[in-house]
Amino acid sequence: MADLLTIAIDGPAASGKGTLARRIAAHYGLHHLDTGLTYRGVARALLASGQPLDDVAVAEAAARALDLAGLDRGVLSAHGIGEAASKVAVMPTVRAILVDKQRTFAATPPGAVLDGRDIGTVVCPKADVKLYVIATPEVRATRRWREIEANGGDADYAGILADIKRRDERDTARAASPLRPAEDAHLLDTSEMDIETAFRAAKAIIDERLASR
Ligand code: DC
Repeated sequence: MADLLTIAIDGPAASGKGTLARRIAAHYGLHHLDTGLTYRGVARALLASGQPLDDVAVAEAAARALDLAGLDRGVLSAHGIGEAASKVAVMPTVRAILVDKQRTFAATPPGAVLDGRDIGTVVCPKADVKLYVIATPEVRATRRWREIEANGGDADYAGILADIKRRDERDTARAASPLRPAEDAHLLDTSEMDIETAFRAAKAIIDERLASR
């Protein structure tokens, strides 16, 4: 138990925290969980079975039935599922069920990198290292725009930017576990960084924290 290592990475949509979390997990030999996928998994189960998104009892049952090992990033990345997930994510009892599963995941040796909105504040308040990754909405919209274009899609920058601002508003304004940095989180502004630079900056913070453990 004492050897368990937990790294919490929080931040807004499209901040680059997911890519960073995967790189960090690979580098330190830890498990990785994108907790957004757990909310998306519940949303998809409801959508797939034609059930309403605003029925708490139904959403609780879907959350209980969710198997973290079966979460498929490809299927769950659809835009509509993200929108539905942000509605499911406002329900405190659904959050409690998913947070429980996320903590069990984090407790599996040798430990894990978890990324999301409330990892440092709620899920793993005792994490060894907490990072709060930010970038301006314009930078995040540009990154998402490039990603869609690179995959052969036809992206609309203004629409993406408006979407990011709306998601920020919903994630920070909700009553249950709103998006905010933990008091002991290290702020990492990646607005002017590419992924390699961001990874090196994160690694420097993590190595320093681990050295003083
Ligand atoms: O990061 P994402 O787009 O996959 O997240 C989907 C939704 O789930 C988003 O509205 C925020 C919410 N979420 C949350 O409330 N808490 C988390 N730890 C992760 C995601």
